[in-house]
Amino acid sequence: MTKDIYDPAFVADLFDRCSSNYRWWSAVTSLGFIERWRKQCVALLQDGPSDVPDIVDLMAGTGEVWPHLLVRFPKANQIIAVDISHQMHVHAVARLHADRADQITHIEANALQTDLPAAHADMLISTFGLKTFNADQQRVLARQIARILKPGGQFALIEASDPKSWVLRPFYRFYLDRMLPLVERLFLKGAQDFSMIGTYTRNFRDCGQMADALRAEGLDVNLRQHFFGCASSVSGKKPIAGKAEQD
Ligand SMILES: C[S@@+](CC[C@H](N)C(=O)[O-])C[C@H]1O[C@@H](n2cnc3c(N)ncnc32)[C@H](O)[C@@H]1O
Repeated sequence: MTKDIYDPAFVADLFDRCSSNYRWWSAVTSLGFIERWRKQCVALLQDGPSDVPDIVDLMAGTGEVWPHLLVRFPKANQIIAVDISHQMHVHAVARLHADRADQITHIEANALQTDLPAAHADMLISTFGLKTFNADQQRVLARQIARILKPGGQFALIEASDPKSWVLRPFYRFYLDRMLPLVERLFLKGAQDFSMIGTYTRNFRDCGQMADALRAEGLDVNLRQHFFGCASSVSGKKPIAGKAEQD
């Protein structure tokens, strides 16, 4: 029987296995770009009405975006970190700095079904957590994001993408589809887990579908490409009801 690579249980197991090497693997194999893209994603969030914002980090993993978030919003009331992988949370907790721990709330849950309160978040971020969702799941996720955000609340999501029209795409694909699986087999005892990223990224294409799904939920949406389309982001706001008519 073929496995369903979009089954949340499959994805949770995959990231449980990746968790102990995730941090260095993602930094090294992205040639440092992932850190730059996380910063660019945080920069898409504007100063809002609250200087003690409640922030939700969906698909938070080991919390790699929190240092950037807390530099930008040092007084954040809390960051609610949602992730389905138990081991990713364990590694996130292990590397939390003591002075940051009281600002982070961990929730081990499927982001498609979380019962986070409605209209709670001033801001919502997700870095590299979209590619493991198919188109139907992206629509469910968009509904969740629209539900969780306060009116006027902002979101910023970024994901690795397939740079379809980039002249160097064949080299990029060779790197993702051939080189990385080989490096993983050699250095991680024959493992084939991180290599799945090539498949997920090719299927995901870019944040275009997610942008459409968020627009369909009534959010204001901006879609951007980063570094020739090797990543894409979608950011914007939940409108305040009636405000559009007044403006
Ligand atoms: C590539 S990691 C990204 C982690 C982190 N945000 C970063 O910037 O590196 C993707 C994360 O999404 C989580 N994830 C995947 N599907 C999920 C779901 N349905 N609900 C919650 N978390 C999920 C995985 O467990 C994993 O930790």
